[in-house]
Amino acid sequence: MLYEWLKLLHAGSALLSISGFALRGYWMIVENPRLRSRPARILPHMLDTLLLVSAIGMLVIMRANPFAVAWLGAKILALLCYIALGMVALRFGKTRRVRVGAFAMALLSAAYIVTVAFTKSPLGPMAGWPG
Ligand code: HEM
Repeated sequence: MLYEWLKLLHAGSALLSISGFALRGYWMIVENPRLRSRPARILPHMLDTLLLVSAIGMLVIMRANPFAVAWLGAKILALLCYIALGMVALRFGKTRRVRVGAFAMALLSAAYIVTVAFTKSPLGPMAGWPG
């Protein structure tokens, strides 16, 4: 029961976190000053905390070692890439070209994470292929 609630919280915060990131990336591209607003700086941290706390809660209930389960390990690695690319896209990228490229790759990493979440396979979108 608690597990189901944590999973709902996890999937919900994941959806909001990725949608929020896409919106901030769009603001970066069109140079909208809202990107530097207080909510745009604080809300992502709150959502990401919920995402991770709910993930850790589920791992504790499952008694799973995320590094011993391939799809969980893949999710953690891809999450690190997503975070690093997101930081380049929204903060540290020196040129526009670098920022937009990092943003596109961060969105691809997020898509990969979501496919891993649903397929429970590190192959993500390729899981079950060729049949
Ligand atoms: C951006 C990062 C993440 C996203 C977008 C994400 C997304 C999701 C989604 C959508 C689900 C629901 C899948 C379903 O209904 O079958 C899910 C489940 C889950 N995620 Fe994540 N996740 C992320 C990070 C993580 C991390 C870092 C961990 C821990 C290693 C993790 C552990 C889990 C677990 C244990 C489940 C429940 C699996 C199940 O019982 O079906 N997630 N994730």
